[in-house]
Amino acid sequence: MPRHVAVIMDGNGRWAKERGKPRIFGHRAGADALERVLLACRKFGVEILTVYAFSTENWIRPADEVSGLMRLLLRFLKSKEKVLHENETRLRVTGRIGDFPSEVQAELRRVMDATAHHARGQFVIALSYGGRAEIADAAKQIARDAAAGRLDPEAVDEAAVASRLYLPDIPDPDLVIRTSGEMRLSNFLLWEASYAELHFTPVLWPDFGEAGFKEALDEYARRNRRFGASQ
Ligand code: FPP
Repeated sequence: MPRHVAVIMDGNGRWAKERGKPRIFGHRAGADALERVLLACRKFGVEILTVYAFSTENWIRPADEVSGLMRLLLRFLKSKEKVLHENETRLRVTGRIGDFPSEVQAELRRVMDATAHHARGQFVIALSYGGRAEIADAAKQIARDAAAGRLDPEAVDEAAVASRLYLPDIPDPDLVIRTSGEMRLSNFLLWEASYAELHFTPVLWPDFGEAGFKEALDEYARRNRRFGASQ
């Protein structure tokens, strides 16, 4: 069983279009799919779930879609806090949370604080997240530490970078799932997913649920992870 599963929740827009509805309709259905997958994690014993909810590139989407996603995120946080408590799950955020409207930041902090004591599972939302931005932010911190004399440039190694990522205590994802038939990482967890198994499914995110998740776990269980070693 993977300890950490990361998901690129893709296909909300196409799902809505197929129904002749605005894109936000697909995002709303996507939020329901997200709850299903979170509950599936508790059921199957996957400790950490990370989801790509908003990328650094998503800010250039039409203003009404961005504001609709912000409202949806606020509603999601308010309505799903109970689910997090019931499932002893801690909320975390990865990404440039400071980019978000202050009301969204405050609500994220409130739910993170309220769930910080839970130890059964962790639910990580990637918000204003970009893998390159995360590595660049770590590089900036390394440069600051070196300039301040706290870090010897010769001592900069992989561990020095990893310890300056947004959530250094979270183990790397074992499995990355992407829905909707696209086969790209799209700037998601570039450093952390180096050795992750990748699972692609044509199912659009709003149609994804426990059965599709179980299929991905079963495929993962059949794979032979070598981390660069020989057979
Ligand atoms: C990709 O589909 C999805 C997103 C950019 C947003 C993901 C957001 C949710 C699933 C909403 C629920 C999450 C929270 C935390 C409230 P797309 O719009 O790129 O779809 P397309 O490729 O079919 O156009």
